[in-house]
Amino acid sequence: MDDTQLSSDLTRVLYSKEEVAARMRELAAQIDEDYADKDLLLVGVLNGAVMVMADLSRALAIHCRMDWMAVSSYGSGTQSSGVVRILKDLSTDITGVHVLVVEDIIDTGLTLSYLISNLRSRNPASLKVMTAFRKPEAAQNAVEVAYVGFDIPNEFVVGYGLDYDGHYRNLTSVGTLAPHVYS
Ligand code: XMP
Ligand code: MG
Repeated sequence: MDDTQLSSDLTRVLYSKEEVAARMRELAAQIDEDYADKDLLLVGVLNGAVMVMADLSRALAIHCRMDWMAVSSYGSGTQSSGVVRILKDLSTDITGVHVLVVEDIIDTGLTLSYLISNLRSRNPASLKVMTAFRKPEAAQNAVEVAYVGFDIPNEFVVGYGLDYDGHYRNLTSVGTLAPHVYS
């Protein structure tokens, strides 16, 4: 098994490395079609979306450019506060550009709502969202997501860029943490 030291801390594997890779390739094929004749800018949301961006972008057949934003959505706990700060802004002007936001996970959707209205005010040619994972609560918010890797249960998950206290981002599968990790 891959990354045994990390995966031994999981109670449950939701998706294997292979399952995630296969789904990213499916989404990339869809994005290839949808943006075939467009100048595409992928906007990755740091830090979680690094793995998604690396895999999705390399699975694309079309040209694309990449830029990054860093936002902080949480205060200290594990509850979304709705207060979003931009820690790192885009390096490029997105006026008239076809923008696809690349996210790791959408939980309440509060972070994304803020991001979308912020980016929309810069007048891109189009603005869509891709996320690797989405939790049920996101459906209650009016956040439109064009491409979703997996709809997952309302549990805290790690791996594939998702972290617990900065760890497990390099776990290649995605799963839930064993209780002994918290205590
Ligand atoms: P909202 O609620 O604003 O939050 O959609 C999105 C951000 O919350 C973090 N998040 C998670 N991180 N495992 C993680 O490692 C999870 O299960 C999880 N749920 C939410 C993440 O930073 C995301 O961008
Ligand atoms: Mg994130």
